[in-house]
Amino acid sequence: RRPRLPAEHPTHPVWRLVLSFIALRSCAAFYLPGLAPVSFCEEGTSGDECQSTIQLFVNRLDSVESVLPYEYDVFDFCQDAEEKRPSENLGQVLFGERIETSPYKFNFNKNLTCEKVCTRTYDISAKDDKKKLDFLKSGMQGSKCPLTPKLIIDNMPVTWCYNVEDNQKYCNPGFPIGCLVTPDGHPKDACVINSAFNKKNMYYLFNHVDIMITYHSGATEGWKGARLVGATLEPKSIKHEDENKLTCDGPPMEIPNEFTSNTKVTYSYSVKFVENNSIKWASRWDYILVSMPHTNIQWFSIMNSLVIVLFLSGMVAMIMLRTLHKDIARYNQVDQEEAQEESGWKQVHGDVFRPPRKGMLLSVFLGQGTQIFIMTFTTLFLACLGFLSPANRGALMTCAVVLWVLLGTPAGYVSARLYKTFGGEKWKTNVLLTALLCPGIVFADFFLMNLILWVEGSSAAIPFGTLVAILALWFGISMPLTFIGAYFGFKKPSLEQPVRTNQIPRQIPEQSFFTKPIPGIIMGGILPFGCIFIQLFFILNSIWSHQMYYMFGFLFLVFIILLITCSEATILLCYFHLCAEDYHWWWRSFLTSGFTAVYLFIYAVHYFFSKLQIVGAASTILYFGYTMIMVLIFFLFTGTIGFFACFWFVNKIYSVVKVD
Ligand SMILES: *[C@@H]1O[C@H](CO)[C@@H](O)[C@H](O)[C@H]1NC(C)=O
Ligand SMILES: *[C@@H]1O[C@H](CO)[C@@H](O)[C@H](O)[C@H]1NC(C)=O
Repeated sequence: RRPRLPAEHPTHPVWRLVLSFIALRSCAAFYLPGLAPVSFCEEGTSGDECQSTIQLFVNRLDSVESVLPYEYDVFDFCQDAEEKRPSENLGQVLFGERIETSPYKFNFNKNLTCEKVCTRTYDISAKDDKKKLDFLKSGMQGSKCPLTPKLIIDNMPVTWCYNVEDNQKYCNPGFPIGCLVTPDGHPKDACVINSAFNKKNMYYLFNHVDIMITYHSGATEGWKGARLVGATLEPKSIKHEDENKLTCDGPPMEIPNEFTSNTKVTYSYSVKFVENNSIKWASRWDYILVSMPHTNIQWFSIMNSLVIVLFLSGMVAMIMLRTLHKDIARYNQVDQEEAQEESGWKQVHGDVFRPPRKGMLLSVFLGQGTQIFIMTFTTLFLACLGFLSPANRGALMTCAVVLWVLLGTPAGYVSARLYKTFGGEKWKTNVLLTALLCPGIVFADFFLMNLILWVEGSSAAIPFGTLVAILALWFGISMPLTFIGAYFGFKKPSLEQPVRTNQIPRQIPEQSFFTKPIPGIIMGGILPFGCIFIQLFFILNSIWSHQMYYMFGFLFLVFIILLITCSEATILLCYFHLCAEDYHWWWRSFLTSGFTAVYLFIYAVHYFFSKLQIVGAASTILYFGYTMIMVLIFFLFTGTIGFFACFWFVNKIYSVVKVD
């Protein structure tokens, strides 16, 4: 086997600029074992090194209108005789990907014109046929976008490229199954591409695809065969008059709205192979990625976030260096007599480490938050290194789930240690809650979603076996690991505090509006959210509008920015509160940055109404079900960041003042 080629950096100039600027050159995609190139060669010359048959796979069908995807099988398309599914990883199953073999099969470098796949006939006297045809029509009908199946060849999407405004090309990794011209004569998006689609109340089925495959030949580079570097298709609607002698020049394949006469649909395809040695295998995804004109917006988003970070850092630096310094110098003056009335944060030194109310819940949240934080960091880091590129389907989700399971130990440890520090005694409850509370909520939510999917018969429903496997991972691996972490956490002494806590709690003076808890918490989340909302738009797009997400370099940067803003905003507000002699900072620091999750929720609601055209109760419930999971995870994540930043800050400032 040939050694893998070192990866090429994506060639787009903006990309290059991005990568060199943020010095994350290593974030450029490179490919992994298991994703090594496959060589193809013509029939008769194939051997160990290359194969001649090309198999197309087909993924689930989905549309922007419905979050419920459908399996290819449920439609009455041509089916592959020997059905075999490629093995899927956990992430793919969780995301509802169902890849199966398609009936399109051909040999490398053998052009085919107008090849028949199969013929489907619909008889008006057969009840079943009407149902099948109606279902097919319902797939074409969607108020804006018909369902789009996704063909996959050599682990790469077959894209449908078309011109959008200003002569830009947009490549879509799926194609519509057909389109409907509404009774008032309005063609839907997919119908606009052909002016022959002009009959009112008529369905036009795309029963023919022209596939063009671009390959990179190894002949001049000394290796055998060729690698596929691009695949595009063009859907066409052709009525084949004679199903045994296809010519592919008939009128469009029309299916009237009323089923009044027998209908016959013949599916066909053509394949064309084109050699282009200037496209490298390692950068074969680039044309899909750069055809998405997002990079500028990404830049805007990063700049926007950097401004916020600079602003906050300036504030924090000012406080740290000037105010705090002055405070500490004043507090520590030896010759200072009692005469000067003390005020400010030093006053609360006897209360600032008073254990919080509901310390159990806080410690459990923090344990879970730590687990999520490490998981997110590691996943993003790996994604950024290219290990989880879009070419490696489902890898991101698999990686996240596996990491989460393995990170039970830090969760147990952090939760136990903090709980002990808070003076808690019910350690068994603490351990069990750490292992069960948040995963339990997520699982219950997930399970309910699945019930809905099962009832709706969607392919996104997770098979029962996978659900059992998830439970096994949770109870069999994650929970014991949490117990181990908790054991070590409880064995250690509780965290040492720089000042002693007084017996009697101090009265908290009347607070101004801005230092009251609720306004502080609400304000705290605004800045971190401001840093992420543009990125959030792309993430939501990739989840709900089925667009590909690949900008992990950016995402990693945004992650770091979020980390900094959450910490700084919390420290800043914490300082103001302590100066106002309000010492209840434990929960408040968690909630201040955790409130970002509430903004996330509001944004998700806004996104739902402004961007998605989801119809149907099931889809809506699913959307909000998944959103709730996201919000909960994000709440724990940001809250934990804020808490530990503030914890560090409070420890620091009280350890430098002299307290008698
Ligand atoms: C297939 O068609 C393309 C485009 O028409 C042509 O360039 C190529 O030589 C053909 N290949 C074969 C093997 O005939
Ligand atoms: C090969 O692909 C490159 C990049 O897409 C394109 O610019 C070039 O025109 C293609 N060459 C041929 C011979 O088609």
